[in-house]
Amino acid sequence: MPEPTLHDVARLGDLVDGQATRVVVDGRPVALVLSGGELYAVDDRCSHADVSLSEGDVEGCFIECWLHGSQFDLRTGNPTCLPANEPIATFTTHLSGTGDDARVLIALT
Ligand code: FES
Repeated sequence: MPEPTLHDVARLGDLVDGQATRVVVDGRPVALVLSGGELYAVDDRCSHADVSLSEGDVEGCFIECWLHGSQFDLRTGNPTCLPANEPIATFTTHLSGTGDDARVLIALT
């Protein structure tokens, strides 16, 4: 099985803990989240309607859709409350290097 392609999407030191950052990978919007020192990457599109999740609030390992308030678990992509009832995609993250200059890599598959 071929190795997944890793995409270099950000410098770690440019991310703000507790916030989401929108990046576009191969034309696909991804919400990159640093929270409590953990990195997460999920589809930057709510499963309830076509709005950007990266504009919502992050709390721990959850992100809240700003439009109707559904929260999604950043680890699994599952919604934790209505109105969204479908999961969003999650992506694997990797770090290359150390410190603030470490590069954030994600795999879309
Ligand atoms: S658009 Fe996200 S919960 Fe409705």
